[in-house]
Amino acid sequence: MSLKIAIGGKGGVGKTTVTALLARCLAAGEKNRVIAIDADPVANLAAGLGIPEDQPITPIAELRDLIAERTGAEPGKMGGFFTLNPKVDDIPERFSKEKDGVKLLVMGTVQSGGSGCICPESTILKALMTHLVLYREEVVLMDMEAGVEHLGRATSGSVDALVVVVNPGARSRHAAHKIRQLGQDIGIKKILILGNRVRGPEDEQLIRESLPGFEILGFIPEHDEIVASDRNGQRPFDDTIDKAPKELFSIAESLTNLSSQ
Ligand SMILES: Nc1ncnc2c1ncn2[C@@H]1O[C@H](COP(=O)(O)OP(=O)(O)OP(=O)(O)O)[C@@H](O)[C@H]1O
Ligand SMILES: [Mg+2]
Repeated sequence: MSLKIAIGGKGGVGKTTVTALLARCLAAGEKNRVIAIDADPVANLAAGLGIPEDQPITPIAELRDLIAERTGAEPGKMGGFFTLNPKVDDIPERFSKEKDGVKLLVMGTVQSGGSGCICPESTILKALMTHLVLYREEVVLMDMEAGVEHLGRATSGSVDALVVVVNPGARSRHAAHKIRQLGQDIGIKKILILGNRVRGPEDEQLIRESLPGFEILGFIPEHDEIVASDRNGQRPFDDTIDKAPKELFSIAESLTNLSSQ
C-alpha cells in the first residue's frame, strides 16, 4: 500500500507520540510496510517507537561520507559543482532502524545557509524526501516540526494528507489555521485535524466548534499510560500496541482509506 502522511502541529501537542502510535498500529500484524520519518531538528521519534537509546541513529544530514560520495561535494561547502539528483533509493534500507515492522529514518538538520540553501546536505535530504513520497509503495509517516518546511513543493502534491494535531487549548487551535495555510501554499490537497489529549465530549465539541471548515480525522483521549510511560522514558503500550486506545486503530483505518492503492 502506498500512503504518505505528514504530521504537523504546534510544539508539544503530541505529534511524535501520535506518529509513533499510528506507525505501530499500521504495521501491526504485518499488514503494512511502514517507514516513520523524524524530520524534527530535535529528533525523538526513536524513543516513541521503542528503539533503545544505546543504539543512537546518525541523522542522514550528518552522514558526511555518504553525502560526499553521492553528491560529489563535501558537506558544509556552498557553491562549486555537485549533482542535484544524487542516488538515494538505497538509503531507507541502509540507514534506518527497524522495530516491530516500522523502519525509522532520522533526517537531521542542515547547519549552514538556512532552509533555502543549496548545499550537499539539503540536496540529499530533498532527494530522499522526494524518493520516499513519490516512489515508495509503503506507508510513510512524517513527524514534522511545527511547520512543513521539509516538504518541497514538488513533493507535497503527492502527500495524501497533512494531519494537524491539536489539543483542546486555544493556542494549538489557532496554530492550526496557520499550518493549514502553509500546507495549502505548498500544494497539499487534504488537511485533516486530529484532536489529541481530549478529556471528553466537551473537548471534542470545543475543537469542532472552534475550527469550523476543517475536516476532522478523529480524537485521541488523554491517556494515563501515555503520561506514565513518558515519565519512565519508555514507549507507551510497550508490550503490545493492541492495548492502545481503540480510537487510534480507527484513525489508522481512516488514513488507509486515503491511499491511492
Ligand atoms: N493522548 C495523550 N495522552 C497523554 N499524554 C500525551 C498524549 N499525547 C501526547 N502526550 C504527552 O504530551 C507530551 C508531548 O508529546 P510529544 O512529544 O509527542 O509532542 P510533540 O508535538 O511531538 O512535541 P514537539 O513539538 O516538542 O516535538 C509528551 O509528554 C507526551 O507523553
Ligand atoms: Mg516531537
